[in-house]
Amino acid sequence: MPLVSAEKFVQAARENGYAVGGFNTNNLEWTQAILRAAEAKQAPVLIQTSMGAAKYMGGYKTARNLIANLVESMNITVPVAIHLDHGHYEDSLECIEVGYTSIMFDGSHLPVEENLEKAREVVELAHAKGISVEAEVGTIGGEEDGIVGKGELAPIEDAVAMVATGIDFLAAGIGNIHGPYPANWEGLDLDHLKKLAEAVPGFPIVLHGGSGIPDDQIQEAIKLGVAKVNVNTEGQIAFTEASLKFAAEYAANKADYDAKKLFDPRKFLAPGIKAVQEAVEERIDVFGSAGKA
Ligand code: 13P
Repeated sequence: MPLVSAEKFVQAARENGYAVGGFNTNNLEWTQAILRAAEAKQAPVLIQTSMGAAKYMGGYKTARNLIANLVESMNITVPVAIHLDHGHYEDSLECIEVGYTSIMFDGSHLPVEENLEKAREVVELAHAKGISVEAEVGTIGGEEDGIVGKGELAPIEDAVAMVATGIDFLAAGIGNIHGPYPANWEGLDLDHLKKLAEAVPGFPIVLHGGSGIPDDQIQEAIKLGVAKVNVNTEGQIAFTEASLKFAAEYAANKADYDAKKLFDPRKFLAPGIKAVQEAVEERIDVFGSAGKA
């Protein structure tokens, strides 16, 4: 299936009470793992690059082409959107240019009026090319590639104004945080989510910081209006833990593993990448998007 923009499958998720995963990628192998998981689960998926990850991968054009070419060469049949995660204004424009099919313009660090104004501009440019747009109001706590927020509940009136700009899905803080959750985290504010969802009826809401939120809270949030859940840290931790385990095995059996040429990165990275695929499949099941392609 060719690449698609995300608004139709995110809206379908909202209407039918499940969520799709927005999974962050970092490199070629990571992208393959997410695509294999989505295909195995027959789930629509967004593969997203943060600004930093795209830079790491050689720039937006390289990242976009790598994902697009893998979708083709792996004969992926499920809907896949290539999404910019937390993009500044200029980065959003560049991604529209180079062929991303979905953009998150993150103007949450700007004054509200400017955030809304820039979102309107991004919507106009993106929609002219059939590209879906996510935008954020308030800030989402934690650190995501240098965008730092102290975490807050998104003001409802800002959410309503942002939806009116014509965006396709809305990121709004409900007590969620990027990265690992601290031990004293109080959990999602589902009452606030309920108020948000009532203020923008039927509109898809995006839950950022999806890693480490208890499954029951994620599923409650989906019932209330979340239709896309972003996951980055969980894949990274799965990769690192499996890699550390394999490295320890390697160290304990060095002569044998050397003889088997397991120093080849294609073999050395395999356990970590398999763990990423398993983590993505497991998340897809929890979000309810398996079989929804
Ligand atoms: P986590 O790294 O906490 O999963 O958050 C990912 C995210 O929200 C990307 O925008």
